[in-house]
Amino acid sequence: MNDNDKENLLRPRPVRESISEMTEIVLPNDANPLNALLGGRLMHWIDLAGAMAAQRHSRTYAVTASIDHMDFLVPVRVGDFVVLRSSVNRVFHTSMEVGVKVWVENYRSLENQHVSSAYLTFVAIEASGNKVVVPPVIPETEEEKRRYDGAARRREMRRAESQRRKEDRS
Ligand SMILES: CC(C)(COP(=O)(O)OP(=O)(O)OC[C@H]1O[C@@H](n2cnc3c(N)ncnc32)[C@H](O)[C@@H]1OP(=O)(O)O)[C@@H](O)C(=O)NCCC(=O)NCCS
Repeated sequence: MNDNDKENLLRPRPVRESISEMTEIVLPNDANPLNALLGGRLMHWIDLAGAMAAQRHSRTYAVTASIDHMDFLVPVRVGDFVVLRSSVNRVFHTSMEVGVKVWVENYRSLENQHVSSAYLTFVAIEASGNKVVVPPVIPETEEEKRRYDGAARRREMRRAESQRRKEDRS
């Protein structure tokens, strides 16, 4: 790779280039005995949707370092459509915060209900397994700027929480 290629890889990119959308139909194998979507299955889809945004932005592999607190706001039933939308909120150095928002879509009434939102941190990794620096992200809309600012606060909270857990273990 020459210097031009390297410079191009680290060129800042707008949030919109990382936006990813994934839709799933809830099947019986995704549900509990009450025919409601399993929380663990939704977490798996959230992880995948998040990885898509992280990899689109960084143009490399990305591994999940952490997932913040999640609430499941409404039950989702077998046969429903689940729509997941993700984008990179902010890049730090080798890590980036990705936000994933999830809706259940009622395709008969065309109504959407918010099911869950999650913030995930991904670390960019090259094929050899080494961490790599991620290009900065450019927030353009008001919403993207709000998420960008919030990501810095959340990173500080994660660090404080991680430190607290380390102290609890020792
Ligand atoms: C995530 C991982 C790559 C971090 O590696 P590490 O050598 O401990 O990383 P460092 O301490 O040098 O931190 C690297 C970056 O990750 C961030 N990071 C590390 N652990 C983190 C955590 N638990 N939550 C949020 N960010 C984290 C750091 O803040 C740093 O970010 P920056 O470069 O943007 O400043 C490593 O722990 C790993 O490979 N974990 C397993 C990932 C995996 O397999 N996930 C799938 C589920 S099993």
